[in-house]
Amino acid sequence: MNENNAVKETGRKNSVIDVRDVSKHFGDVSPVRGVAFQVLKGEFVTLLGPSGCGKTTLLGLMAGFERPSDGSISLHGEELTDLSEDELALLRRRMVGFVFQAFHLIPTLNALENVAFPLYPVKMSGQERKKRAKLLLDKMGLGERADHLPSKLSGGERQRVAIARALVNDPEILFCDEPTGNLDSATGKEILNLLTDLNRKEGVTIFMVTHDQKIAELSDRSLYMTDGEVNES
Ligand SMILES: Nc1ncnc2c1ncn2[C@@H]1O[C@H](COP(=O)(O)OP(=O)(O)OP(=O)(O)O)[C@@H](O)[C@H]1O
Ligand SMILES: [Mg+2]
Repeated sequence: MNENNAVKETGRKNSVIDVRDVSKHFGDVSPVRGVAFQVLKGEFVTLLGPSGCGKTTLLGLMAGFERPSDGSISLHGEELTDLSEDELALLRRRMVGFVFQAFHLIPTLNALENVAFPLYPVKMSGQERKKRAKLLLDKMGLGERADHLPSKLSGGERQRVAIARALVNDPEILFCDEPTGNLDSATGKEILNLLTDLNRKEGVTIFMVTHDQKIAELSDRSLYMTDGEVNES
């Protein structure tokens, strides 16, 4: 093995996310084309690129919500293509947190119930579930808002509930799709601080789509996507 390959192999072994020649086609639309990169454990990686270039589609593939048309993805050495739908759901629950751009909270559940929601399939008493959800709400500075419905929360508060929900399973990898895109700059900064703390203090690997160059500069590494292709900066 030459030196370059050795480096590649070592990188692969330490990688938490390994994307190999992945494409996604919807009919004749191909938002992801031959994408390959790796993310190492504990890294904070940002993905930038113009609207419509395929970022959300790629994120959905990486988090196992969608399957690639070509290529393969592994998370922590587990090959997503080998897994059934049920196994994929289990792996997501075990390993992955996802923060959506538009919060995606369940409107009829209060903050605590929203955070606890991913724990329902987990064998755990109702009390334990509540305790865990409350702990995370407290951590997000929202302990006092536990019984509020999403409609009674501000945008920043909703996003913090969404982050608490993404963390309730103690994920190793957190995928974020423009988590500050819908927030004013002060609230966005708060959310970003929460996320960078998670990364630095708790070692959560973060892969974040953003349009914000300042956030990109804060991250360990940025990837740029154009027309379905991804390049390192
Ligand atoms: N399920 C689908 N069926 C058909 N086309 C799709 C589907 N999902 C995404 N696309 C197309 O793929 C392209 C990329 O969409 P995607 O949402 O990944 O872009 P994006 O980079 O996240 O954009 P934005 O920054 O605006 O969120 C778009 O042209 C979109 O219409
Ligand atoms: Mg998008």
